[in-house]
Amino acid sequence: MSKNKTILSQNPYIEYDEKAPTINALEFQKVIDSRRAVRIYENTPIPEDIVMKCLHNALLAPNSSNLQPWEIYWVKSPEKKKALVYACLNQIAAKTAAELFVIVARTDTWKTHAKEMLRIFSKAKNVPELAKKYYSQIVPFVYTLGPFSIFGFIKRFLFFVRGLKSPIIREPVQKSHLRLWAVKSTALAAENLMLSLRAYGFDSCPMEGYDSKRIKKLLGLGRNASVVMVISAGKRAQGGIYGERIRFSPDRFIKKI
Ligand SMILES: Cc1cc2nc3c(=O)[nH]c(=O)nc-3n(C[C@H](O)[C@H](O)[C@H](O)COP(=O)(O)O)c2cc1C
Repeated sequence: MSKNKTILSQNPYIEYDEKAPTINALEFQKVIDSRRAVRIYENTPIPEDIVMKCLHNALLAPNSSNLQPWEIYWVKSPEKKKALVYACLNQIAAKTAAELFVIVARTDTWKTHAKEMLRIFSKAKNVPELAKKYYSQIVPFVYTLGPFSIFGFIKRFLFFVRGLKSPIIREPVQKSHLRLWAVKSTALAAENLMLSLRAYGFDSCPMEGYDSKRIKKLLGLGRNASVVMVISAGKRAQGGIYGERIRFSPDRFIKKI
């Protein structure tokens, strides 16, 4: 595949331009710095339009092949909320929250979403053939695993042989790879949601201290769905942040090579 022309390796020379707006970097820095894991919220609601804006921002996160493998469940019904708090081990960050969102990654929506991309392309002008080929041929080849991942095994062998000569994308060839693929993009949507809440004056706490089985049952989700995080949201209460932010030295993590 790597030798063939793809939309990834060829400039399609599309007549489209999007100018970068000027950003107030200091305001952005404030959003980053003040986003903290908030464990106790005030009893203040978040206006519905702000929640919707933040949810839409979550969906603007970058995502693999634009296949948007996420779902966000905004749990509003009081009974379901109660059950979700219970599934979140009665964490105070869930109990006191104005809103609760379950962030879900899906490994079974890519096929429909690839078709949707092709449908949108069919109505658009100047879509390069390579882009159409990407969604009609490459995406199905890359993401199909087949029953019992048989096609995945075949691909693993093909990639091994091809990879001896040139770089090749080697995953996904098993279900756990596909799950990781979906979770990566979905986690970015979760971060967009939390930063947006902060930018609009509200707070959040990402949680994975929960019973995923109970949450999946509550939401009627099957085995192609993974609960990535529960995000609680609201206005921080005094004492809702448990201490100063701790991060280790950047030298530990940033490797200049
Ligand atoms: C994937 C993930 C799961 C987390 N799970 C929980 C949780 O279950 N309960 C909780 O109180 N905080 C949880 N946190 C929050 C972290 O403890 C917190 O982000 C970390 O201590 C850093 O603090 P800061 O977010 O204020 O910078 C989680 C964070 C992430 C990213």
